[in-house]
Amino acid sequence: MSEKATLTIGDASYNLGVSIGSEGEKCLDIGLLREQSGCIAMDPGFGNTGSCFSSITFVDGEKGILHYRGYPIEELAEQASFVEICSLLIYGELPDEKTLTKFRNALAEHTALHGNLTHHFSGFPESAPPMAILSAMLNLVSCFHPDVLEVYSEGHGFDRTAALLLSKVRTIAAWSYRMSVGKPFNHPNPNLDYCANFLHMMFSEPYREYIPNPVVERALSLFLILHADHEQNCSTSTVRTVASSRANLFSSIASGVCALWGPLHGGANSAVVQMLEDIRSSGRPVDYYLDKAKDKSHDYRLMGFGHRVYKNFDPRSLILKEKVYDLLAELNKSDPLLDIALELEEKTLKDDFFISRKLYPNVDFYSGILLRAIGIPLDMYPVMFAIGRMPGWIANWRELHDQNLRITRPRQIYTGAQKRSYIPLSER
Ligand code: ACO
Repeated sequence: MSEKATLTIGDASYNLGVSIGSEGEKCLDIGLLREQSGCIAMDPGFGNTGSCFSSITFVDGEKGILHYRGYPIEELAEQASFVEICSLLIYGELPDEKTLTKFRNALAEHTALHGNLTHHFSGFPESAPPMAILSAMLNLVSCFHPDVLEVYSEGHGFDRTAALLLSKVRTIAAWSYRMSVGKPFNHPNPNLDYCANFLHMMFSEPYREYIPNPVVERALSLFLILHADHEQNCSTSTVRTVASSRANLFSSIASGVCALWGPLHGGANSAVVQMLEDIRSSGRPVDYYLDKAKDKSHDYRLMGFGHRVYKNFDPRSLILKEKVYDLLAELNKSDPLLDIALELEEKTLKDDFFISRKLYPNVDFYSGILLRAIGIPLDMYPVMFAIGRMPGWIANWRELHDQNLRITRPRQIYTGAQKRSYIPLSER
């Protein structure tokens, strides 16, 4: 079915094409708008602007739906492993057993970092934020594997580069933590699977090896699955923008890490736990913080609430809330921050300020409590998000190349001074 739209500016009318996605989403094609009418479209924050046609992830914000390659997130969260999800997102289909084994082997093969990379870690101060280390080290890794600088999407070169990145990001993340707490690095153990290997590199000690714990590994895998992709969010759009200049995969993804770091995006998970800690230690009632978030005289926000796309509920948050309960019970732990989080959520659901603005808990609201339960330190939370988002970034990088998209180059409307003559310094 093809539809047409008409745009009228003054006395002139312009026909615009309408495209419809496989789930019925519609868009106006304004590719010739400026050429035909002299106008550009203005949409700061891109709330109404599509940048690509993508077959990776579908989000329906009104209905709270999230699909990876057509599969509902609820089913994947319950049944799949993170490594399967990586293969699904990057290559488009759930892997069969042979493909999965090959993919797992490729991940196991590339876990170790080049020997000369190790001493770069000691160049960072111990206080260095792990996200800064991660971004810098991802760029550095590419210097030790110059072949990855040349790879576009097709064939063996891409497969190797993607596996290298997915695998090494764990090692870099775990080592940045070890360095920050002044502990020796744990070398990867290729016999452990993806999550167990990461936990070993984080938590093994010279006097006590990490003992594999299926409950913790499953919780970590779930966390990574829920963060694996989320269509054209801030960091993924950044990866695509950088990739559109035909920058290599590692540089494109290092820039995605930087975009993810901010508290309005992937930095929100640590900000949520910080906020819950502040509420607890202040001894003030939760209502005090609700009122503060509603008070427009300052910019305090309830971290972990609100989303550009979800306007009803975030399905990832519902899954995490349920799994946090299960995990704490299975580990025989309790967390006072969970009670505060539940009270906050309950009160916002009855509060007109939050209802009218459609502000609900997002993925970051309960994820920090899950990470606390499995012993991940606070400043590593955004890094954990970045590890999870790797397959989504890689899939988007690949899709952009497969579609041979143009370089990203938005326009602007200039509002500065009109043409004027230079005034020599002595006359100013
Ligand atoms: N607490 C209080 N008020 C909020 C919050 C919040 N968390 N989020 C939005 N609002 C209010 C705004 O003040 C604004 O009110 P107004 O209309 O009276 O001016 C209204 O809701 C709309 O907010 P915007 O900032 O325009 O919404 P936007 O879509 O641009 O931002 C965002 C979405 C960044 C997620 C925002 O809701 C926010 O800052 N949330 C807190 C940070 C957070 O949790 N980020 C993680 C997002 S999920 C992710 O990236 C993985």
